[in-house]
Amino acid sequence: MIPYEQLFENNRKWVAENVARNVDFLKKLSADQTPEYLYIGCSDSRVPANEIIGLEPGEVFVHRNVANLVVSIDVNVMSVINYAVRHLHVKHIIICGHYNCGGVKAAMLPADMGILNPWLRNIRDVYRLHEAELDAIADMDARYDRLVELNVIEQALNVLKTAVVQEHYLENGYPAVHAWVFSLESGLLKDLNFDFKGNLQQIQKLYDLTGSVKHK
Ligand code: CO
Repeated sequence: MIPYEQLFENNRKWVAENVARNVDFLKKLSADQTPEYLYIGCSDSRVPANEIIGLEPGEVFVHRNVANLVVSIDVNVMSVINYAVRHLHVKHIIICGHYNCGGVKAAMLPADMGILNPWLRNIRDVYRLHEAELDAIADMDARYDRLVELNVIEQALNVLKTAVVQEHYLENGYPAVHAWVFSLESGLLKDLNFDFKGNLQQIQKLYDLTGSVKHK
């Protein structure tokens, strides 16, 4: 276990190493951020956003919560998406889940998780949407893996249900929305090849929020 005081020592080392690698490191760090990516992932300590995709500070705008959920009444994630799209003009929004996700696991168990109940309910709802497919998978580990994937896809759909993403896409042709899963065992990312254009078109039959843009 790293003693608490060690963290400040690590911080000073981090600055020194980065400055040694790039003399402009601090100049770049303190300049305005212009990230092209918004990453929405799980809070899990084993999935460090910047590191797994090899991006430097300033290159990816990050939001993490338990089980990488995009909930329409969560002011936190909605603020992040709005800011990233409207003000930072990110080109890509990535929902990144991971196998062996404790949040997804908990949503498969018959247990009272206290304040986590309403949060994990969103994942139980994903299960219910795909109940036939999931119940047909006899192997519990494989079923768990599939729920992780289906949850990521559902959250990508939730991103498409926001007015800011629909309007910005209609006006500018971006952001693109992606669904990924990270494997703790291999360290590798799997692209679920989320068809965001097809899904956006599909979803707008019921969730079209772009009326004011179209009629401008
Ligand atoms: Co997780």
